[in-house]
Amino acid sequence: MKGSALAGAALALTLAATAGHAGPRGDYMLECAGCHLQDGSGMAPKVPDMRGIIGRMVQLPEGRAYLGRVPGAALSPLNDADLAAVMNWSLKAFAPQSTPADFEPYTAEEVARLRSDPIQKPAKARRELLKALAKAGIDGGG
Ligand code: HEC
Repeated sequence: MKGSALAGAALALTLAATAGHAGPRGDYMLECAGCHLQDGSGMAPKVPDMRGIIGRMVQLPEGRAYLGRVPGAALSPLNDADLAAVMNWSLKAFAPQSTPADFEPYTAEEVARLRSDPIQKPAKARRELLKALAKAGIDGGG
């Protein structure tokens, strides 16, 4: 009995140590916060402040796609399911007000499709997206 309890504990530790089991917040801190900082505020002017704005971006199809195709996300070492979880977590953590109540969470399948086509000129894509958001009346800064 004692032996199998120990084996169980060892298995649990092994699973916990496997990549991707830090959970979305832990994955964000490991793989994204180096550039985006813990609170999503980024490092201007290179790394944009994603607070608030990402919840507006997902309201347009091209914005929803942009978040999965932007190089920092698309090229991250996280697998599709873990990246989807980080993106869904980021929306809750950094854009709780602007993310629509009926937002449909990213799935691993959607993320796999989006990240297979990373954006080549992200700064230009972002500028165009911000214009499209303003045109659609989905702006409001931040
Ligand atoms: C090496 C630095 C770096 C890392 C690491 C990084 N990013 Fe980024 N991220 C950027 C930069 C720079 C941009 C602005 C677009 C561009 O120039 O690529 C950006 C843009 C974004 C955006 C769009 C925000 C906006 O307002 O346009 C999202 C969402 C994003 N990153 C998510 C992530 C996620 C999720 C991770 C971790 C899996 C991550 N990034 C890791 C540098 C990074």
